[in-house]
Amino acid sequence: MPGFELFDQREIDALADVINRKMVHRYSFNDSRGGIYRVEEFERAVADHVGARHCLAVSSGSASLYVAMKACGIGPGDEIITSPFTFIASIEAILECGAVPVLAEIDESLNLDPESVKPLINERTKAVMPVHMFGSAADMDAFGRLCADYGLALFEDSCQAMGATFRGRSAGTFGLWGTYSLDPYKIITVGEGGLIVTDDEELYRRMEYYHDHGHIHDKTIDRGAEGKHCLGFNFRMSELQGALGLVQLTKLEGALAALRGHKRAILEAVADLGLAYRVHADPEGDSATQIVFLLPDEASARRFQKASKEVGVGCGNLSDNTWHYARHWQTLRDGALYSRTRCPYDCPYVEAMPEYRPVEWPRTHAVLSRTAVYGLSIAMMEEQIGKIVKAIRAGTAAL
Ligand SMILES: Cc1ncc(COP(=O)(O)O)c(C=O)c1O
Repeated sequence: MPGFELFDQREIDALADVINRKMVHRYSFNDSRGGIYRVEEFERAVADHVGARHCLAVSSGSASLYVAMKACGIGPGDEIITSPFTFIASIEAILECGAVPVLAEIDESLNLDPESVKPLINERTKAVMPVHMFGSAADMDAFGRLCADYGLALFEDSCQAMGATFRGRSAGTFGLWGTYSLDPYKIITVGEGGLIVTDDEELYRRMEYYHDHGHIHDKTIDRGAEGKHCLGFNFRMSELQGALGLVQLTKLEGALAALRGHKRAILEAVADLGLAYRVHADPEGDSATQIVFLLPDEASARRFQKASKEVGVGCGNLSDNTWHYARHWQTLRDGALYSRTRCPYDCPYVEAMPEYRPVEWPRTHAVLSRTAVYGLSIAMMEEQIGKIVKAIRAGTAAL
């Protein structure tokens, strides 16, 4: 899965170039940098690649969600409906804004179920945020309709889905904004980094100001003389990451082709077994970073998992996944924040704070507990593919 598998001399050269020029700040030093702005180049290349008007690079995928929400003015009293099956950063970004994450249910796509969102919408709801889990897009037709019908903003946590598409269009480009993570586990990586894409010029400006202390960037004057549009913070990407990102981006389509090829080879080799898979809203657009089987019930999924392990290849049951399943997040239930004021937990603006109890997502649990997931890597060899096929056969024999 991760882009670091593809690191080679080109990344080394790109980094060495930034270091040799001693130019690591994405802004500033306008007179002496010879017109070279790697982060800016990277932003333009990403926007063109995914088909968005604007892209802002930031310091992480978590920061991308936070900056985007702050620029939309999300704050105490607001509610955002999202998925209980995601990385906790999706939830933390909402909490950091002082707003309430309302967690609906997933369906067999492992993504947010639009039908489960509807009963949770009220006058405090500001946005719906599907998360394109494991690089497979949620049904963006359904979410587009839902948000239009209810007059809500559509946000996309596409942090796991760079390169994935829905009906030929990039995940992340359907909503008001979408985000990508470039952390070490992602299909392309710069070590740590994030990207926000949007077609909304005004919103892009607000994000750009906010992510750099409110600076109104102007290459014709000294950075210290720039005006400020708002109070903000520092979520800047450095030129080192920008240079790395430019190289990694050229490898994205190759990585996708490799992953999709591995997935196809595995599924073709086990086609005779008649196993059910995770539902893809658009199978063509899946970035194929994982293969998820949906077994008849939890007991059979556990038998499958055990048999797979016995022949030497472990697979996961997603209900055990502490990274991605809200059932396991004690800190969320406890409201374990350090700050003296604790919006949204005890907050005068919040009318209904969910308890986030493990029992709250019965349909999500029913789906996750009958999964068997295998992670794929870009540089997988035929031998590894053969081992996974053998393990799937062993798992199926134990059902
Ligand atoms: C769905 C989702 N959202 C947000 C993030 C946060 O990205 P980062 O690790 O770059 O902060 C991740 C990272 O794994 C993620 O999977």
